[in-house]
Amino acid sequence: MTPSDRPDPAAAAQGMSKGLTQYGDAGFSLFLRKAFIKGAGYTDAALDKPVIAITNTGSAYNPCHGNAPQLIEAVKRGVMLAGGLPMDFPTISIHESFAQPTSMLTRNLMSMDTEEMIRAQPMDAVVLIGGCDKTVPAQLMGAASAGIPAIQLVTGSMLTGSHRGERVGACTDCRRYWGRFRAGEIDADEIADVNDQLVASVGTCSVMGTASTMACIAEALGMTVPGGATPPAVTADRIRVAERTGTQAVAMARARLTIDQVLSAKAFENAMRVLLAIGGSTNAVVHLTAIAGRMGFEVDLKALDRLGRETPVLLDLKPSGQFYMEDFHRAGGMATLLRELKPWLHLDAMTVTGRTLGQEMAEHPPAFAQNVVRPASNPIYAQGGIAVLWGNLAPGGAIIKQSAADPALMEHEGRAVVFDNLQDMVERIDSADLDVEADDIIVLKNIGPKGAPGMPEAGYIPIPLKLARRGVKDMVRISDGRMSGTAAGSIVLHVTPEAAVGGPLAQARSGDRIRLSVAARSLDLLVSDEELARRQAVAPVREPTADRGYRKLYLQTVTQADQGADFDFLRAAAMRGKVPPERA
Ligand code: FES
Repeated sequence: MTPSDRPDPAAAAQGMSKGLTQYGDAGFSLFLRKAFIKGAGYTDAALDKPVIAITNTGSAYNPCHGNAPQLIEAVKRGVMLAGGLPMDFPTISIHESFAQPTSMLTRNLMSMDTEEMIRAQPMDAVVLIGGCDKTVPAQLMGAASAGIPAIQLVTGSMLTGSHRGERVGACTDCRRYWGRFRAGEIDADEIADVNDQLVASVGTCSVMGTASTMACIAEALGMTVPGGATPPAVTADRIRVAERTGTQAVAMARARLTIDQVLSAKAFENAMRVLLAIGGSTNAVVHLTAIAGRMGFEVDLKALDRLGRETPVLLDLKPSGQFYMEDFHRAGGMATLLRELKPWLHLDAMTVTGRTLGQEMAEHPPAFAQNVVRPASNPIYAQGGIAVLWGNLAPGGAIIKQSAADPALMEHEGRAVVFDNLQDMVERIDSADLDVEADDIIVLKNIGPKGAPGMPEAGYIPIPLKLARRGVKDMVRISDGRMSGTAAGSIVLHVTPEAAVGGPLAQARSGDRIRLSVAARSLDLLVSDEELARRQAVAPVREPTADRGYRKLYLQTVTQADQGADFDFLRAAAMRGKVPPERA
């Protein structure tokens, strides 16, 4: 057979023949590719199989992904059991505490890395191994844009530790103990002791923080195998989930079950219901918006708020409740939660198994007695965890996690104590001279997508030291930034538009009065329009810029929180609907 007699490998477009390097001769491209891969010892028989790629996000800087080697081994086993060829490849890995100035700055970079390496390399399906807060959103964003069959595998939660007889876990207890240390309630020896216990193993934070929230959302979206969200990182259950994920990826490749068939408008609404019912992280609103934006869906914050009014919080996990992720897993995990949420779910939404959510739920094991997931008739909180606020301070919306806030502060008017930026807050918040009282409202500007930049989790503004020492535990705090999903308090976040692009927040001054009404879903600066216009004329806002590199790209193209803080050029070229879909 002469080279010209051979079938065009690009036409087959499967396995190793996919996405050939362009030399102007497809036959030669495949010949060369096989020659190189055979240098690693592969046979033609192996290279004829469907290729299942696996993102390797293991990193010494990312203990939340510390089990990545075992997971990759198990995924590979599952792939080979199903007759596929597993190929792992590295991408960016991001850990919350090792990303300066904030992990959110590089979420979009990781999504671009994920998307472009999926596009660049031959694969029939991809297994996305993520876990720490920004990794799962980044992977789902990238895979949504790449468009091939994709399945999410999360690393799983860490174990809880024990400090002097008290069960502790990252990172709600990290913040609680640090707050006690700041207030002088515990000494330096004790804060050092508890530091050893807060993270008892590899894996993601053990409460319903952003990582756990995104794990549950990934399963609700239909992007994991059933039961994929909750097994802790170091358990046999987690390894079995990894093996099943590999096997399922081969089936997806054979069925050409592409991600657009799973990430439908109904799937996003299911994810929103789950977010609300688990008292999930506020960050997930931004991430879901970004993922939906890649699929051409606008998240409708008004409709999200409506879902919030309808959907009770059922999961009793910190920071809204008392338990940890390992308890949720023992209580049956997502199967138990979805059973209670069934009346609110779109059961015909497709999942990565090729079956609908309803079909998968019909196969769930029977219910049993447990006290972590409440029945809908006896919720933790009658309304969803997250409320959306509007007003002259947030014309584009702001959010508050009411399930983790002080109910007494949900209707509150107070005097503003304003910090212009993060540095200003760091320098003054603990000053004995700070003019602040417990019923004031603390405002922090310029920590939005462009302001910081990167929209850091600095919205969890500490209680000023002099008030903390008087026993003040909570105050109304307002910013254009985010807060960790593990944090709690009466904290208004994601004020849009942010101060750095000239949002009304930029014109708030110390001494102004602000009114928050969660019942009315309102957030208002009690200053006249004329006065705000006068302030704007006297001190116009200049948007931040950068001279070069990724930061320049970021500042030129990042969108506001209501568009997911994604880059404008990465969102779908045309929007095709809203999520949740409008009701008749
Ligand atoms: Fe990685 Fe919390 S720091 S999940």
